[in-house]
Amino acid sequence: MGVFDNTDWDAHESVCFAADAATGLRAVIALHSTALGPAGGGVRFRPYASSEDALSDALRLSRAMTAKMALAGLPFGGGKAVIIGDPRADKTAALLEAFGRVVEGFGGRYICGEDVGTTPQDMAIINRATRHVAGLPETSGDTAPATAHGVFQAMRAAVRRKLGREDFAGLRVAVQGLGSVGYRLCVHLADHGAILTVADVNDEAVARAVAALDATAVPSDRILAVDADVLAPCALGGVLDAASLAMLRAPVICGAANNQLADGGCAAILAARGILFVPDFLANAGGVISATGPFLGVGEAETERKVAAIFETCDRLLALAERDSITPSDAAERLVAEALKAKRPVGSMAA
Ligand code: NAI
Repeated sequence: MGVFDNTDWDAHESVCFAADAATGLRAVIALHSTALGPAGGGVRFRPYASSEDALSDALRLSRAMTAKMALAGLPFGGGKAVIIGDPRADKTAALLEAFGRVVEGFGGRYICGEDVGTTPQDMAIINRATRHVAGLPETSGDTAPATAHGVFQAMRAAVRRKLGREDFAGLRVAVQGLGSVGYRLCVHLADHGAILTVADVNDEAVARAVAALDATAVPSDRILAVDADVLAPCALGGVLDAASLAMLRAPVICGAANNQLADGGCAAILAARGILFVPDFLANAGGVISATGPFLGVGEAETERKVAAIFETCDRLLALAERDSITPSDAAERLVAEALKAKRPVGSMAA
C-alpha cells in the first residue's frame, strides 16, 4: 500500500521516513498541518509490527494533534513522530541523537515532545542535536492537575447543555480510573457536591477515593454500566466499543482517556442513543496546554486561563452540534477546519 492510499491519509503536509544505519533508527514523522504554527506532537517509541502500522499511527496521531492544538487555542499545528523499535532494548543515546538531527532538518516546522515510550530525559538527549524540543526535564511538570481541571470544565459545559444544570450538587458521576487525572477529577467533583461511583484495577486507589471522597466502589467491569448522570472514562483508550455501548446508561460521557471511541462509527451510535459524548481530545486538552506553556514562555496564570477556556470551547462545540444535528465529534472537525482556513486557533484564547 502506498502512502497516499493509506486510509489514515488526510492531506498531510508532509511525511518523512528517516533511517540511520549506524544507530538502527527507523522513524516516520508526519506533519499534518502547520497552518496554526509549527507542528507539535510527541515521539512514540514502539515495536510496530510493520512499517505500514507505524505510518498509519503517525498519520492518525498527527491529524489528531492538529485538532487538539486548534481546539486548545494553541499556536501549534499537528505532528507526530514514531520510532520503530522496543524502547527497552533499542533506545540508545546515539539513536535519539540521530533522531534529533532529523528533527533539526525540519528547521522548526516540527516540535517534538515525549509520548508513549519516551521520557523527558530522552528529550534532553534529542536536544543535543536540535533545539526544537518541548518537555525537557527542567521544564516538564506534572500535567495531570491541568488535565483534570480541563475535564471538569468540559463536563460543566456538557452537563449544562444535556441536563440543564449549572451545578454539580447531587449529580451522580461514575469515574473509571483513579490515577493521576481520574483521582484529581474526583476531588474537583466531590468539592462541587457530586456523588461519586468509582472503579480501578488498583485496590489502593479505590480505597483512597472511598475513604477521602465518600465514593462508592464498583468492580472495574461494571463501571461503564453504572446508572449515573455522567460517565468519565479516565483509564484506557478504546473503552467505547460495540459491546460497551450497549450497556451504557449515563446520558453524558466526558473523561480524560485518549481515543475513547474504538472506531469512527461509535460517535454516531452514541448520538443515536441520545448520549452526549464530549470528544476526548477537547476534554483532556489541559495536558497539552500545560505541557507547552514553558516552551511558549507562558506563565501559570495564562495556562490556567486557557485550561478554564475549555468550558467556552466545549459549549460552543456542543451548541454547534445541537444546532446542526451533528455529532460533537463532527462539530469538532468543523470548528477545526474553520480554524485552519482562518489560520486562527479556535476560541478567543489564541496566543
Ligand atoms: P494513570 O496511569 O495515572 O492512571 C490510569 C488509572 O487507570 C490507573 O490507576 C490504573 O490502575 C487504572 N486502570 C487501568 N485499567 C483499568 C481498568 N480496566 N478499569 C479501571 N481502571 C483501570 O494515567 P493518567 O495520567 O491518570 O491518565 C489517564 C488517561 O488520561 C490516560 O488514557 C491518558 O492517556 C489520558 N491523558 C492523560 C493526560 C495527563 O496529563 N496525565 C493528558 C491527556 C490524556
